[in-house]
Amino acid sequence: MLSGKFITFEGGEGVGKTTQIHLLYEFLNERRVKVKVTREPGGDEVGEKIRAVIKSATVTKMDSLCETLLLFAARRDHYIKIIKPLLEQGYTVICDRFYDSTLVYQGLLKNVSIEDIMKLKQMTIGDTEPDLTIILDVNSDVSTKRLSMRNLIQDEYDTMQKEQHDIVRKGFQNIAEIFSFRSVMINATGNKKTVFAKVIKAIEKKFDCTLL
Ligand code: TMP
Repeated sequence: MLSGKFITFEGGEGVGKTTQIHLLYEFLNERRVKVKVTREPGGDEVGEKIRAVIKSATVTKMDSLCETLLLFAARRDHYIKIIKPLLEQGYTVICDRFYDSTLVYQGLLKNVSIEDIMKLKQMTIGDTEPDLTIILDVNSDVSTKRLSMRNLIQDEYDTMQKEQHDIVRKGFQNIAEIFSFRSVMINATGNKKTVFAKVIKAIEKKFDCTLL
């Protein structure tokens, strides 16, 4: 049922994506599902190099359109070299962020035109869409608290103010509505086990299977 499925995780900073992705990987692995985890920006050699450029440039403020172009360059390389071949080999691919993040961060937060983003999307990965996008949602108080517990400031996104968190959150809520054919929004405020149970439910519903 899960063979060759492309599952993406999205959400703002501090929503718990990494934890849930790790739990899902372990869970599917134990059930002998062929599964790989990857991330964006990154996921392959070129992508990881571009990630480093973007992460360092966010401190010095790269032009937003340049950042968007780099993100799609990384995405195309990652998709054609890693994601597509794995899907074709029957792997379930779990990707930490995909182009929804560009719509929200570069589009809504940094005012790059959504039309331009969709043109770049078409140019680089065509009609590719995830089979399922799990959007983790928490309010900005929870996400800021979780981020402060990480005690690690890496880039401008780690120091976002409440107002920016709210724009990102609203953006992902919009994505859940616009792409309702592939997206599920999960309230990720509870503990990791409670949230994970909801993740499993969403997967079972989407792919009409029983995993527990
Ligand atoms: P993260 O994967 O650790 O959350 O960090 C990636 C950061 O990059 C995150 O703050 C969001 C940002 N990002 C964008 O701005 N646009 C994108 O298209 C992607 C994939 C990530």
